[in-house]
Amino acid sequence: MPNTILVGAQWGDEGKGKIIDYLTDEAEIVVRSQGGNNAGHTIVIDGEKYVLHLIPSGILRKSKTCVIGNGVVLDPVSLVQEIEGLRARGVKVGKNLLISDAAHLVFPYHRALDEQREALKGGGKIGTTKRGIGPAYADKASRTGIRAGDLLSPETFAEKLAARVKENNAVLKSLDAKPVSGKQILSDYLEAAKVLGPFITNTVVFLHHAVQQGVPILFEGAQGTFLDIDHGTYPFVTSSNTTAGGACTGSGVPPHRIDTVMGVVKAYTTRVGEGPFPTEDAGLTSTLHGMGREFGATTGRPRRCGWFDAVATRYSAMVNGIDEIAITNLDGLDGVDWIKVCVGYRIGGKTIDYPPADHADIARCKPVYIDMPGWRKPTDHATKFSELPPKARDYAKKIAALTGAKLAIVSIGPARSQTIRL
Ligand code: IMP
Ligand code: MG
Repeated sequence: MPNTILVGAQWGDEGKGKIIDYLTDEAEIVVRSQGGNNAGHTIVIDGEKYVLHLIPSGILRKSKTCVIGNGVVLDPVSLVQEIEGLRARGVKVGKNLLISDAAHLVFPYHRALDEQREALKGGGKIGTTKRGIGPAYADKASRTGIRAGDLLSPETFAEKLAARVKENNAVLKSLDAKPVSGKQILSDYLEAAKVLGPFITNTVVFLHHAVQQGVPILFEGAQGTFLDIDHGTYPFVTSSNTTAGGACTGSGVPPHRIDTVMGVVKAYTTRVGEGPFPTEDAGLTSTLHGMGREFGATTGRPRRCGWFDAVATRYSAMVNGIDEIAITNLDGLDGVDWIKVCVGYRIGGKTIDYPPADHADIARCKPVYIDMPGWRKPTDHATKFSELPPKARDYAKKIAALTGAKLAIVSIGPARSQTIRL
């Protein structure tokens, strides 16, 4: 397998974790290059469910190496919990995990600020995961962040932390919020550093050697294209580049070493948190929730659901350079009589074929739908594309064609076996 970037082509939760796990069979190294523990990647192996937040999904496969790249923001305490949780279930976490010394750390004051800023926004809130992701990336951009490598020098770490706690507590006080305890953070983080220390290294050099030797690398995108800080429905976005370019800046692997970009799409669309969502549909939302589907893996929040939006995925193909797509959750539509697919947006008396930049304009867009007949049969036992009902095949081919990418994978359930490669 060549070096592949896997990106979410919608609003996150496309089922990237499962596809990554499937593709990891052919890769040697799996890299996370952006986001933090706001992500929730669900993988089911032999009926056992794993939800990963920071560690690349490749950790569940033997003899693969996982890299947390420089573009990730990581909360050391929750990373230690994740490592211990995996170890308790018999998953090896040792030399198979590397953490970039340049990855920025998330602190309790980031979480407190995330919470306060959301509260201040009232009805205009973003609906963040409250993991402190935005404030941590803001510190990185402000050049006041503290990085994983700093955990290796306790004295400098303590100095940097004291300065940050002082400033952030002043801000928190001005917002009438509870200050954080610098002493407590120092002791918790140095404790976490004992566990994480051996993993922290220069991952750029490691990846460079891997690239030179032709070792196949898989980049595991987190969140999705429309949550990208530049290309998403700003300001209802996350704070990193979730699109393909982010895999390069967030890992130090140069663009011309990437061979393929695979986009993951759900057979319909979902979104958690606030922000515009043209194809949102109350009927489909209640159908999917009624099936026990579409509850967030990180926050447990019910996801908003709607029809497949080809205007969005076509734009996503443009921004990411998507060559191939993986369609997930096709089985979610097994019981639907007629399926709508959005092929254009109506706004101000005109039909457009790309999402406007302003979120208020996106919110005003009315989808132009085509209707496709449902297949009304279970698909979750198919092992080959030819075993899917003809109408399900037509639907999958249609959404790939509208997106403008080659159909590569169809997923019809959470298990590894419920994956059809074309
Ligand atoms: P933040 O990343 O916690 O700042 O949240 C910003 C927006 O991104 C909110 O709408 C979140 O619900 C959304 N978001 C963040 N991470 C994920 C994810 O992994 N899947 C889906 N949505 C996400
Ligand atoms: Mg998720």
